[in-house]
Amino acid sequence: MSLLRGKRLAGMDEGAARFTASVLQDGPLLEPTVRINQAHIVSLGMDGVLDRGKAAAILSALEGATSGFAMDPSLEDVHMNLEAFVAKSAGEAGGYMNLGKSRNDQVSTALRMRARQEILGVLRKLLGSVSALLDASSGADDALIPGYTHLQVAQPTTLSHYLLCYAEALLRDAGRLADCYGRVNLSPMGSAAFAGTTVNVNRRRVAELLGFDGIVENTMDAVSARDFMIEAISAFLIVQLDLSRLAEDLIFYSSSEASYITIPDAYASTSSIMPQKKNAAALETVRAKASSVLGMLTAAASLVKGLPQSYDLDLQEMNSLLWKSSEAVMDSLSMVAGTVRGMTYDAERSSRNALLGFGVAADLAETLCVEFGIQFRAAHHMVGAVAAGLPREYTPAQVGRLLQKEAEAGGFSVPASRVEQVCTPQASIALKKTEGSPNPSMAKATRLRLKEDAGRLGSWLDSKEASLARSTGRLAEEIAKIRRR
Ligand code: ARG
Repeated sequence: MSLLRGKRLAGMDEGAARFTASVLQDGPLLEPTVRINQAHIVSLGMDGVLDRGKAAAILSALEGATSGFAMDPSLEDVHMNLEAFVAKSAGEAGGYMNLGKSRNDQVSTALRMRARQEILGVLRKLLGSVSALLDASSGADDALIPGYTHLQVAQPTTLSHYLLCYAEALLRDAGRLADCYGRVNLSPMGSAAFAGTTVNVNRRRVAELLGFDGIVENTMDAVSARDFMIEAISAFLIVQLDLSRLAEDLIFYSSSEASYITIPDAYASTSSIMPQKKNAAALETVRAKASSVLGMLTAAASLVKGLPQSYDLDLQEMNSLLWKSSEAVMDSLSMVAGTVRGMTYDAERSSRNALLGFGVAADLAETLCVEFGIQFRAAHHMVGAVAAGLPREYTPAQVGRLLQKEAEAGGFSVPASRVEQVCTPQASIALKKTEGSPNPSMAKATRLRLKEDAGRLGSWLDSKEASLARSTGRLAEEIAKIRRR
C-alpha cells in the first residue's frame, strides 16, 4: 500500500509519477532533510510530545540514513523516501516521524540549509580569488598597460590597477552574499503545511538545533517564500557577471593582437587542426557560464511570478537551480584564481602599447590648463589638433614640437621639454593625484585597505562556519541523550 495514498486514491499514472517526482534532483537535500528530522524528533522527545522510546527508535533509524541510501523514484521525493527508509528499520515508531511537520516546511528548511552552505562556499572561493588578485597586483604596480574606453585606447594604466578593480568588485559581491545570509538563515520548521500545527513544536529550539539564527515567523510566509533563493541566485549571478567581464578582458589581453599577458597552459586548450593554437578555454567557459546562471535566475524568478499562496508544486522546479548556479560560480572562481595566479606579464609589449594611441592626451590637456593657464576646453582642442597630426608610432619629442606650435598659435608659450616630460605612460601614472587611481602609491593604499576588508569578511565567514559546526555538535549530543534515555 502506498505510504501517502493509502486506500483512498488509486495508483498514479507511471508517467505522471515520474514527471512530478523530484527524487532524481533531491540528492543535495538528503543531508539537511535527515538533520531536520533529527532536530524535530529530538525536540518532540525533549518535551514529551513524543514518547522517548519512539523518538529513540526514529533517531536510530535516521542515523542509518546519514550515510545515504538508494532512493526509490516511485516515492516522489527525498522526504517520502526518508520516511519509508525510517519506517523500514524503526517499525511502528516510524509512522510518528511526520507528526507536527509537513514536506512544505521541511523542504523550505532544507533549501535554506543548503542555501547557506552554498553561500558560505561561494564566499570562501570569492576570498580565494580576491587573494589571488591582490597577490598578483602587488608585483604589478609599475606594470603599464593601455586602458580602454569603448575598446579604444584611452589612458595608460597598470596591471595592478586593473586587478585591484576586480578585487574591489569581488569583495563587494562577497559583502552582498554575507548580507543575504542573514535573510536565508531563518527556520521555517513548525509551520507544517502553512497554518502551523496543533502539536507543540518548539520552533525556536528546532531552529537553534539546526544552526539557524531565528525563525521565519509567519507560517504561511515560511513555507511559500522563495525570495531567499532568488536573492542568493542573484547574488551568485552578480559574481558571475563580474567574472565574465574579467574573463573577457584576460582573453583580450592574452590575444595575439594585445599579448600583454600569457595565460598558464594549465587553463588553455589547443586546436584539433591548427597546431600552433593556444586558446583561453577556461576563461571562455567562465564567460559563457554567466548566460547559464542568468537563465537560472530568470527561471527562478518566473516560477514565483503570480504563484498563489502558499505551497504549489511549481516551487519544486526551483530547488536544483540553487546548487546548479552556485556550482557554476564556484568552478568559475577556481578557474579565475588559477589563471590569475599563473599568468605572466609582457612588460616590453605592454608598455609600448601603453604609449600607442596617444593615451597621455588628457594628462597633457590638464597640464596646459593647470600649469599654463589655458582654458581647459581650449587645451583640449589644442591637444586634439596634435593628435590629428601624430603618426601611430610617435615619440614624446614629436608631441613636444607639435604642441609648442599649437600653443604659440593660440598665444601661449609652452616649452616642448615640459610636454615631453608629461608625455610618457610612466609620467601619466606617476602624476595621477586621485585616490584609487593607478598611481603606484595609491595602489599600495588600496591594496592594504582591500586586504583588511577581505580579512574582516574572512573572520565573519569563519565565525559562521564555527557556529554551524557548534549546532551540529549540539544536535548530536541531544540525539545521544535521547537514544541513551
Ligand atoms: N518535493 C517537494 C519540493 O521539493 C516537497 C514538497 C512537496 N509538498 C507537497 N505538498 N506536495 O518542493
